[in-house]
Amino acid sequence: MANRILPVALSRRSLMLITSGIPRRKIQVREDDLLQKNPPEFVEKFDVIRAANIINRQYFSELALRRMIDNLRGRLRPNGILIICRTHDDNTNNGTIFRRHGSNLQAVDRIGRGSEVAELAVQSGSSVEL
Ligand SMILES: C[S@@+](CC[C@H](N)C(=O)[O-])C[C@H]1O[C@@H](n2cnc3c(N)ncnc32)[C@H](O)[C@@H]1O
Repeated sequence: MANRILPVALSRRSLMLITSGIPRRKIQVREDDLLQKNPPEFVEKFDVIRAANIINRQYFSELALRRMIDNLRGRLRPNGILIICRTHDDNTNNGTIFRRHGSNLQAVDRIGRGSEVAELAVQSGSSVEL
């Protein structure tokens, strides 16, 4: 595992489950604001990022969603994977899996109906500085 920086939105129990087998000293937990400029130490440092139940039209304006997606894209290594997913009120899990290709995101797979922001994500990149 190249990076062990985990979002703080996890419960302690979830954190323990997904990190069992990794020595405690090798795990960093960082508070984060996806609307702010990426901390330099996050830029192009991640092989896989999963954003669950946050990049939602229910919570944020389109401008804010674009900014968050741009930030997440900027954190990926070349060919890195971004998973944007959401659990909907009908209890279905829907999302899209993207791969960073150059400065763009390409949708490579879909979970359920796909992400509601898939189109925004694939449009991102060409006009925005990483
Ligand atoms: C519905 S919870 C989802 C938590 C977790 N990802 C999950 O799927 O259970 C939404 C989370 O987004 C976080 N959040 C809200 N605004 C944010 C921002 N600007 N940057 C990063 N996280 C944010 C909240 O703190 C909250 O933990």
